[in-house]
Amino acid sequence: MPEKILIAYATKYGSTAGIATTLGEALGARGLQVDVRPVREVRTLEGYDAVILGSPVYMGNWLSEAVTFVRTHQAELSRLPVALFTVHMLNQGEDETSRAARQGYTAPVRTL
Ligand SMILES: Cc1cc2nc3c(=O)[nH]c(=O)nc-3n(C[C@H](O)[C@H](O)[C@H](O)COP(=O)(O)O)c2cc1C
Repeated sequence: MPEKILIAYATKYGSTAGIATTLGEALGARGLQVDVRPVREVRTLEGYDAVILGSPVYMGNWLSEAVTFVRTHQAELSRLPVALFTVHMLNQGEDETSRAARQGYTAPVRTL
C-alpha cells in the first residue's frame, strides 16, 4: 500500500490552492497516494500517514481557518508527521529580519 498523504490548505484568492495542487501532483508522481483538500472540507485525518498543511499570510497571520484546523485535529496531528508551508509576498530574504518574520507567521501553529 502506498503511503497516503493529506494536503490541506486554506486560501482566499487561490494561489495557495494552486501550490497545494502542484505539490499533490509532484508527490503523486512519486507513487504516493495524495488527497488535496481545503481545510474546511476535511472532517477526519483517519487513514492518512502524514499531513501537509498550508496557508497564505494576511496581515502577518495564517488564515484563521487553517489555525482552527490545527486546533480541531490537534490530537491526530500530534501523532502524525506534519509539514507546514506558508504562501506570502513579504519577508522573502535570508536576512535575520525576514527569517524572524517567517518564523512568526507559523509560530502560533507550531506552538499547537
Ligand atoms: C490584504 C492583504 C494582506 C496581506 N498581508 C501579507 C503579510 O502580512 N505578509 C506577507 O508576506 N504577505 C501578505 N499578503 C500577500 C499574500 O500572502 C499573498 O498574496 C498570497 O499569495 C495570497 O494567497 P491566496 O491567493 O491563497 O489567498 C497580503 C495580501 C493581501 C491582499
